[in-house]
Amino acid sequence: MSPSVSELKDIQIPLVDQPAYTPNKLRVVTIGAGYSGLVFAHKIQHEQPDLQDFIDHTIFEANDGVGGTWKVNTYPGVQNDVPAHLYGLPFDPNKTWSRFYADGDEILEYIERLCDKWNLRRDIKFNHRVTALEWVEEDAKWKITVSEKGEERQEYADFIISAQGFLSRWKWPKIDGIHDYKGHKVHSASWDHSFDYSHKRIGVIGNGSSAVQILPQMAKLDGVEVVSFQRNPTWITQSLGQTLGVSAGEPEPPDENEEVGVDMSEVDQDDDQVGSNFNPTYTARDKQRFEDPAKHREYRRMLQHGMNRGFKLFVKGSPQNQKSTEATIERMRKALNYDEDLCKKLIPDWTLGCRRLTPGEGYLESFLLPHVKLTQSHIKSIDATGINTEDGQHYDLDVIVCATGFDVSNIPHYPVTGRGGMTLAEKWKDEPESYLSLACPDFPNYFIFMGPNATVGHGTLTTSMDWTAHYMVKWLRKVAGEQIKSIAPKQSATDEFVRYGDEIHKTLTWTGSCVSWYKNHRRDGRVTATWPGSALLYKEMIKELRPEDWEIEYRSTNRFRFMGNGFTLREQDEEADLAWYIER
Ligand SMILES: Cc1cc2nc3c(=O)[nH]c(=O)nc-3n(C[C@H](O)[C@H](O)[C@H](O)COP(=O)(O)OP(=O)(O)OC[C@H]3O[C@@H](n4cnc5c(N)ncnc54)[C@H](O)[C@@H]3O)c2cc1C
Ligand SMILES: NC(=O)c1ccc[n+]([C@@H]2O[C@H](COP(=O)([O-])OP(=O)(O)OC[C@H]3O[C@@H](n4cnc5c(N)ncnc54)[C@H](OP(=O)(O)O)[C@@H]3O)[C@@H](O)[C@H]2O)c1
Repeated sequence: MSPSVSELKDIQIPLVDQPAYTPNKLRVVTIGAGYSGLVFAHKIQHEQPDLQDFIDHTIFEANDGVGGTWKVNTYPGVQNDVPAHLYGLPFDPNKTWSRFYADGDEILEYIERLCDKWNLRRDIKFNHRVTALEWVEEDAKWKITVSEKGEERQEYADFIISAQGFLSRWKWPKIDGIHDYKGHKVHSASWDHSFDYSHKRIGVIGNGSSAVQILPQMAKLDGVEVVSFQRNPTWITQSLGQTLGVSAGEPEPPDENEEVGVDMSEVDQDDDQVGSNFNPTYTARDKQRFEDPAKHREYRRMLQHGMNRGFKLFVKGSPQNQKSTEATIERMRKALNYDEDLCKKLIPDWTLGCRRLTPGEGYLESFLLPHVKLTQSHIKSIDATGINTEDGQHYDLDVIVCATGFDVSNIPHYPVTGRGGMTLAEKWKDEPESYLSLACPDFPNYFIFMGPNATVGHGTLTTSMDWTAHYMVKWLRKVAGEQIKSIAPKQSATDEFVRYGDEIHKTLTWTGSCVSWYKNHRRDGRVTATWPGSALLYKEMIKELRPEDWEIEYRSTNRFRFMGNGFTLREQDEEADLAWYIER
């Protein structure tokens, strides 16, 4: 029990003979070595290397390599849906992207190259899967159960950084009889490359971003018949860059004399990748230009500015949304060759931007091919030979591709037990509610990258991960330097954030009437995935720590024990300038 106010006055805290703010050692364990975990590792190893004086950092990664999303999603056609030049790691953006949207293997190759260059594998333990987490109140530590080669062991940490990914747990769809199917069944997030998909009858379930990329790739294989099974139409924006007002192929350089951007005059007109001006290839000249950091930054800033300005697209009923809707309808109609039946089936009547906008190169055009069929009759069941739909049809299939998405509940697939025995599964059983997407009440010393209501709906995630990592290390400095035992966001602050965020969401397209993983695969209900506002608002809100929103417990009964012997660290250094603050 905490001492009362009068008792506190009487408690004598012996002097600590060390300079004020001498940091306590902290063991920090990060779970996951995708983009998030790597951004965090770089922050500690390179950006603020003095953190290593008091932080002992380990990353547990279940896979045998880095990359997360980009290591496991290797299906045909996998690529970016944001401009590649905005999807690098902020500390070392790639100058040599091949195309406006990069393919998955190029992204993975870039991530691996950076890990070599920056030695980011140093603290990673591969093939280590975290299987349980338990907060031990008396020690203010997390007990971590980690499994390596089937053997479990326990380790302890002062802080957990969950960088486990919000789209890293795929699952088979819940369809009657799915496991009775005798043909080849494959999930988009676990593609089987050893199988020959040509000359097969292929069913593709779903029309989310994964299916939109897979379907044209299947359709172009020799001798195939493809059936697309979808429950709802979806918006195909052709090019997110164009939709957001960012010109991919025809850049508008800020200075007319300064050529920044994709120089389409240099592009080989025979290059079929460029034919549609959809995903232009960067020329040797572009790449050379990007070697100049100032020009590369200028180009990236142009794209980023367009993306940030483009947020108004996600405001329901905004002129930007209306304009984009009209333009997208026209583009979709054109891509469907004005086939009225297909247009009726494939162009949604719900708000553009309600679901993830996916640039669908060649997707709509696939439906014009004689060997590609579409059914929007719901799947009733799957049997040994194929798929049965509710309209009484049976589709004989050699292959079923489940591009059916991920478990987006945010609840890890292992027990996470916080303060007072509360589990994350229990806490989030109805709705995953986070504090600013990065922490949760009852789970002290636990930070989350891309938790519930993160900036996953617009903007560039890698930049936002960097802001989040910056926020986290700010807290770690405070905790270590001010002798803090534990921090957890207040329930009241979290509730208020969630409730107000819900109000903002009412104005945004993500609450439109569509089924979407942004609402945990529901048509109605709370938006659980996306941040309530612009990415720039997120940046602003986590610029400072807002300790008033947190429960803070100290290691001592006197919170000012960190004052030590009355001297600062700087004064310990005989060489230090002790008048640095006199500037004028
Ligand atoms: C196909 C696909 C395409 C995408 N395209 C884009 C895009 O174009 N633009 C965009 O902004 N976003 C895109 N995303 C979202 C993408 O997931 C994020 O941009 C980003 O890669 C997430 O990085 P992360 O490190 O947070 O998570 P992840 O990349 O998912 O990494 C999580 C890591 O944690 C590890 N892990 C999980 N659980 C455990 C455990 N218990 N123990 C140990 N390790 C564990 C996993 O093995 C994985 O390596 C895409 C997602 C998918 C699925
Ligand atoms: N860079 C990219 O372009 C890219 C590519 C892939 C993924 N991603 C990211 O990953 C996210 C997830 O994309 P995703 O396509 O993998 O998943 P998703 O958006 O959740 O889409 C899943 C699809 O499967 C359908 N589905 C699910 N269960 C079904 C069932 N039982 N029967 C019939 N259909 C079913 C869904 O239909 P309903 O809509 O009717 O529910 C939906 O069309 C994207 O939003 C994006 O953030 C990005």
